[in-house]
Amino acid sequence: MFEINIATIFPDIFENVFKYSIIKRAIDRNLIEINTYDIRDYTLNKHKKIDDYPYGGGPGMLMMADPIYRCYENVKKKKKEIHTIYLTPKGKILKQKTLNEIVKKNKSIFVICGHYEGVDQRLIDLIVDEEISIGDYVLTGGEIAGLVLIDAIARLIPGVLKNTICFEEESHYNGLLEHPQYTKPREWRNLEVPEVLLSGNHEEIAKWKLEKSIEETKNKRPDMWEKYIEGQKND
Ligand code: 6GU
Repeated sequence: MFEINIATIFPDIFENVFKYSIIKRAIDRNLIEINTYDIRDYTLNKHKKIDDYPYGGGPGMLMMADPIYRCYENVKKKKKEIHTIYLTPKGKILKQKTLNEIVKKNKSIFVICGHYEGVDQRLIDLIVDEEISIGDYVLTGGEIAGLVLIDAIARLIPGVLKNTICFEEESHYNGLLEHPQYTKPREWRNLEVPEVLLSGNHEEIAKWKLEKSIEETKNKRPDMWEKYIEGQKND
């Protein structure tokens, strides 16, 4: 069981997305547990205020440290070991490798969704283990990044996907993009499925798949191809 705890000011976003398909099945089968926490529930003031002006001036508002910290303390009560991730455009860019490591090294994570101009630095210094961004662009808040992170984590938990072979072959897992794939009908709008895939010759099929993977990677992601070649040299 992998436990995911999310601190957010919009818990509904997560609850609505995770009630579908593969993630729902994983929750129902107790492979993952997803708990959402509304940061406003951890405020001590009557207005449930969670943000304020930055000291020293500057644009926008900052999330205050205390409500998020009190939320963390509450989760920490039932879990001794918890890996804390803060979602921010200042974080390191999320890669498949980062995801594999998060899943391998932890049983429980605490994900903080940032908002406005960010959070009080003292909270980051005190509890955050890892700062993650999902790409070089700016979102209005950490929630959509949180959905991306959690979806990508969930599918790595053993048993969540029906087929483990699937994820070993797929794009990014082995450093190459996946080869093109085809399904029925065999001929569609005068277009044929590559002959080799119908041949039943497993050796030839494996060879074709690797060739196509290499071709796709070279054409679409020359940066990944460079890395792949480097990796092969060092093996
Ligand atoms: Cl994690 N948050 C925000 N606000 N923007 C982002 C991001 C995160 N990752 C990329 N852009």
